[in-house]
Amino acid sequence: MALFNLLQTVPAIRRDVAARLRDKERNREAASGFGQAYFDGTREQGYGGYHYDGRWRAVARTAAARYGLGAGQRVLDIGCAKGYFVHDLAAGEPALDAWGLDLSSYALAHARPGTAGRLVRGDAQALPFPDRSFDAVFSINTLHNLDRDGCLRALREMGRVSRDPRRCFVQVDAYRDPRELELFEAWMLTARTYCMPGQWEALFEQAGYQGDYFWTILQLDDSN
Ligand SMILES: C[S@@+](CC[C@H](N)C(=O)[O-])C[C@H]1O[C@@H](n2cnc3c(N)ncnc32)[C@H](O)[C@@H]1O
Repeated sequence: MALFNLLQTVPAIRRDVAARLRDKERNREAASGFGQAYFDGTREQGYGGYHYDGRWRAVARTAAARYGLGAGQRVLDIGCAKGYFVHDLAAGEPALDAWGLDLSSYALAHARPGTAGRLVRGDAQALPFPDRSFDAVFSINTLHNLDRDGCLRALREMGRVSRDPRRCFVQVDAYRDPRELELFEAWMLTARTYCMPGQWEALFEQAGYQGDYFWTILQLDDSN
């Protein structure tokens, strides 16, 4: 298990926390179904338009280098949304046999062309794949949407479907001090489990998780 910044190439974004706070409960409610409002509604209620902008190409290259992935190896992105990372893993060099899974039928119905047949609707807590069926497994900014027990189940599932449980990567919401927690709680819409890095590491250990991990820690002008 090691701290590794898979999204090191992703550009920084700006956040208007005040705008989101204006009607926070209604925004949370709208975001909660991971439907149209969350992906393609207003920025107050989610992404404000979840569009392909090419950022995942570099992430796919970082992933292939980090996990020594070769052409045709089978990889999975849990919480794949519209399949952008899956697309770029499959279209990259090396070209991987990339699969995705997400709870949101909206996201899957609006998936990037070229991913058809490789995106599956399902729950991270009970993956519809056999044991040891992937060479690497990723889950980016998804597992914190589960409660603590759900996180444990999902982390164990990642290990179960991996041929080498060390070739897993998870990124989750965290904070390091009260100021970061305050900012996070002001901005976040869907997270159910968020804690300090050391508490996440304890949870990873409890789950027997052996892969890499990184944190999404909000700053006022930050990435992710
Ligand atoms: C913040 S988005 C991240 C999407 C993508 N991984 C990214 O980084 O751009 C969280 C994603 O997790 C999905 N999700 C939430 N709960 C889930 C679950 N229990 N199982 C699978 N996917 C889930 C949502 O539908 C959404 O696509």
